[in-house]
Amino acid sequence: MKLFDVYPVNDIIIDKAFGSHVWDDKGTQYLDLYGGHAVISIGHTHPHYVKRLTDQLHKVGFYSNSVKMPLQEELAALLGKVSGKEDYQLFLCNSGAEANENALKLASFYNGRKKVIAFKKAFHGRTSLAVAATDNPKIVAPVNETDNVVFLPWEDEAALEQAFQQHEVSSVIIEGIQGVGGINVASESFLRKIRSLCDTHNAVFIADSVQCGYGRSGKFYSHDFAGVNADIYSMAKGMGNGFPIGAIIIAPKFHAVYGMLGTTFGGNHLACAAALAVLETIQAENLVENAAKIGGYLMEQLRTFDKVKEVRGRGLMIGIDLPEELSFVKKELLHTHKIFTGEAKPNVIRLLPSLALTQAHADQFLEAFGKAINK
Ligand SMILES: Cc1ncc(COP(=O)(O)O)c(C=O)c1O
Repeated sequence: MKLFDVYPVNDIIIDKAFGSHVWDDKGTQYLDLYGGHAVISIGHTHPHYVKRLTDQLHKVGFYSNSVKMPLQEELAALLGKVSGKEDYQLFLCNSGAEANENALKLASFYNGRKKVIAFKKAFHGRTSLAVAATDNPKIVAPVNETDNVVFLPWEDEAALEQAFQQHEVSSVIIEGIQGVGGINVASESFLRKIRSLCDTHNAVFIADSVQCGYGRSGKFYSHDFAGVNADIYSMAKGMGNGFPIGAIIIAPKFHAVYGMLGTTFGGNHLACAAALAVLETIQAENLVENAAKIGGYLMEQLRTFDKVKEVRGRGLMIGIDLPEELSFVKKELLHTHKIFTGEAKPNVIRLLPSLALTQAHADQFLEAFGKAINK
């Protein structure tokens, strides 16, 4: 059987990984500033993570949500503490798309309405409503098309107010920092505007934190910069440091009903052990603070390169917007300097490293980047 060929891949086989480095099958070392698409939060094969997962696997790897799972409660308590949202409720699932799907669904259950407001260049996942709320017609199949999603221009307060006049809005979904869309930071005033319109109209504010959450921005949720709370936060990527797990946290005003949401695999023992190891490490190693510090340093330095059009982002979620003539830089970084980075169309290099990235790693990247853009 052949693979269903949907991914354009680099011709590299990763054989070993540790911290912010990976090695290919020929032993070549790479600095990983991509983190497998923002997934590696505490560093590859972190010893505490490996131990917690291994110990758990020897006890019980999986049982379904039909029995009590103290690990889920432990995870809810620690996530509440580390994120500062202790009065929220946790629902565990398996991926970012599934988290958003559940968030949008829960919002609609809550206020009985259908219209979702999403924004230009948004990416919320590839499942039915999540993909319908994603601004990329190429990945929306005819069966996913719906009039229930209204796309508005990014940061346009007047358009947002008007949409609330025109529609019975169920929810507004927004990434605190758009990832796939090219690293666009939502302004604090725009997030506050969403909060106030949702309050006035009993609509649900959904903070998609799948990519920009879990400490990456220098705060636990990037929406926190606005100083207001969303009603539901969705998360995945960094949550399991590579173990598939997603979640939504849900404000106290939502009341759970048996059967309202559900999943077979979500919140299983191994996933909870992975997520606990991640949070314990984030706490023990002050990784949110490190993301703010190293990310701030990187952005400050990157802004000194004349050839760079713009540097956007927060913490360790950084977009380097390059002119067309420098479109080769990402490949140059990978093949000549052995550094993995991400990208966004048309010419943005995305840095999404582990939150444990050191100053020395940042300097190594800056030196290589200087050489690559001047090649
Ligand atoms: C902001 C955002 N939301 C949702 C998703 C979907 O997550 P997943 O690929 O885990 O379904 C992504 C994935 O890139 C994302 O960046």
